[in-house]
Amino acid sequence: MTDITEIAADIYRISTFVPEANVQFNQFLVRDEQPLLFHTGMKALFPLVRQAVSTVLPPETLKWIGFSHFEADECGALREWQELAPRSTALCSIVAKLVSVDDVVAARPAQALEDNQRLETGRYRFRFLQTPQVPHAWDAGLLYEETTGTLLCSDLFHHNGNVQPMTTSDVVGPFKDMLRAYQRGPFAYYLPYTPQTKPTLERLAALRPTVLATMHGATFVGNGEQAVLDLAQAMEDVLSNVCHEQKN
Ligand SMILES: [Fe+2]
Ligand SMILES: [Fe+2]
Repeated sequence: MTDITEIAADIYRISTFVPEANVQFNQFLVRDEQPLLFHTGMKALFPLVRQAVSTVLPPETLKWIGFSHFEADECGALREWQELAPRSTALCSIVAKLVSVDDVVAARPAQALEDNQRLETGRYRFRFLQTPQVPHAWDAGLLYEETTGTLLCSDLFHHNGNVQPMTTSDVVGPFKDMLRAYQRGPFAYYLPYTPQTKPTLERLAALRPTVLATMHGATFVGNGEQAVLDLAQAMEDVLSNVCHEQKN
């Protein structure tokens, strides 16, 4: 079951709950002069996501297909989207483009963005933030939409369950629960905790976002600065202790 919710003006959250994994996979569609999709989802989701996009705009008019890092839920259906939308271009970090995307999945060369580079899609203004290993992967980056205060934050704030599309309640507690649960199973070390983690998250908090659009879970609306700082603390609590315990 895939549903679609407008989380900010002309920014839509497309969500499919996968019960086997007890997790939602969300994509974000921005309706603007140059329509943008952030995350494609896996190939298996393509028909569902295409159908959801078509309720907002003609899918073949997509211009930008952005994502944080090279991974199936981020860009697995990039090729399918590019075949459907002939003028679409992948949007990612320089590392993602050079290391994986152009060779493995893109139908056409991706548009790489440098840290802090701006992209205007019409009335919306995006800023790209290069965030290596945050949420994870060397090639990671995030997009921040400045006029709505929307941070497209990929796996940050991941929480499990078939939750509501949007919330003003705490999402860091459920994120921490997910991290602890994953540490006990095959998904251990999902998110690395490195010397760059806290400074990177502090940089994101300083943007003072008001909408945190996570790939897995509810979109948080509220004091995003505090939420990101709380997230940094949660990661330190769970992951730095785990690393310490492992050393002993
Ligand atoms: Fe990921
Ligand atoms: Fe993900």
